[in-house]
Amino acid sequence: MTSVFLEHSATCPLFGAVEKRVAVPGLIRPTLHLLEKKRIDQPVDFRREIHYTYYSYDTSRIVKIHILESNMIKKVGIIGCGQMGSGIAQVAAHADYRVIGNEVSEELFQKGLHRITRLLDRAIEKGKLDSPTREKILGNITGSTDFADLADCDLVIEAATEDMTTKKEIFAELDKICKPEVIFASNTSSLSIGDLASVTGRRDKFVGLHFFNPVPVMRLVEIVRTIDSSDETVAAAREFAESLGKTVVMAKDSPGFIVNVLLIPYLLDSIRQYERGLATRDDIDNAMKLGCGHPMGPLTLADFIGLDTTLFIADIMFDQFRDSHYAAPPLLRRMVNAGYLGKKSGRGFYDYNK
Ligand SMILES: NC(=O)c1ccc[n+]([C@@H]2O[C@H](COP(=O)([O-])OP(=O)(O)OC[C@H]3O[C@@H](n4cnc5c(N)ncnc54)[C@H](O)[C@@H]3O)[C@@H](O)[C@H]2O)c1
Repeated sequence: MTSVFLEHSATCPLFGAVEKRVAVPGLIRPTLHLLEKKRIDQPVDFRREIHYTYYSYDTSRIVKIHILESNMIKKVGIIGCGQMGSGIAQVAAHADYRVIGNEVSEELFQKGLHRITRLLDRAIEKGKLDSPTREKILGNITGSTDFADLADCDLVIEAATEDMTTKKEIFAELDKICKPEVIFASNTSSLSIGDLASVTGRRDKFVGLHFFNPVPVMRLVEIVRTIDSSDETVAAAREFAESLGKTVVMAKDSPGFIVNVLLIPYLLDSIRQYERGLATRDDIDNAMKLGCGHPMGPLTLADFIGLDTTLFIADIMFDQFRDSHYAAPPLLRRMVNAGYLGKKSGRGFYDYNK
């Protein structure tokens, strides 16, 4: 899969009528007058990263063409097709990767696929997507309940439940099955990437690739590098994330990385204040929306993340830091124990069945 990025740069009269063509058969027939910040995906057998500069007769501008070849990564395995796994599968399939989504049961894979289909149909209704692209995305995704199906993947992204034992079991198993060149990545929010990598025999090919919810909308990916991650692995992970249109920030392998170390205490404090009776649910959410310009209040956000996932992350961070900032409020634990997991279960701080 090759991504071709086309973007304007400043006007440059010096280039005059010079036009340079990319000497790759069938690569691009640039319609230079169309060039605005725009991405074109097309399959090309080409194995380097190159930058070309064109002069556009039509716009009298210099045009930079940046060709990124995802040389190594063509087939992506995704473990867990819940909220995050299905979102990652969707964006990877959209960018023309072949995606194989692994779940513990066929039923759960179908549930993830249904989530993707629903989102794509909604995008079509809003005029943001066309039907051929919908078909392409769905055609690029296949399901699996057997790790053996991931043997020839170039990249495997684990997005299973936030639990160290579960994730270590997954990677130990994958390590026996996957080809030697595979890159392993975890989407964990709070667990140590180095600890996860330690159960594999390829710690240099292991990184954190932390996407945000909802994946098709949120532009950030945190790449987490361990002391063992190689430069090549980090570069390939960055190239992959950027080929999905994401912006990358690099984070240390420290619990919560950048975003969650800041976000989780805020969410826990909002639940604590609600539990204490400081204000109503709606007033807490509205206060942060209208007073601080947040797109949604913290109780809604916790529902969207998943109250179980919020609790898992809090417990892991508390265990690591031993700091009361990260101590989960009893209300959160009670809600999770009662099956109130937020939007994904239909009920959390809000009722989504209405
Ligand atoms: N929810 C968020 O906002 C968010 C954001 C960023 C990262 N994350 C991280 O992403 C991961 C997944 O979170 P989620 O919100 O998608 O959770 P989720 O509960 O929606 O999905 C987890 C999925 O993993 C599957 N699973 C569990 N064990 C498995 C196994 N052995 N093999 C295959 N599949 C397995 C489960 O069946 C489930 O469908 C967690 O590590 C979480 O911390 C979550």
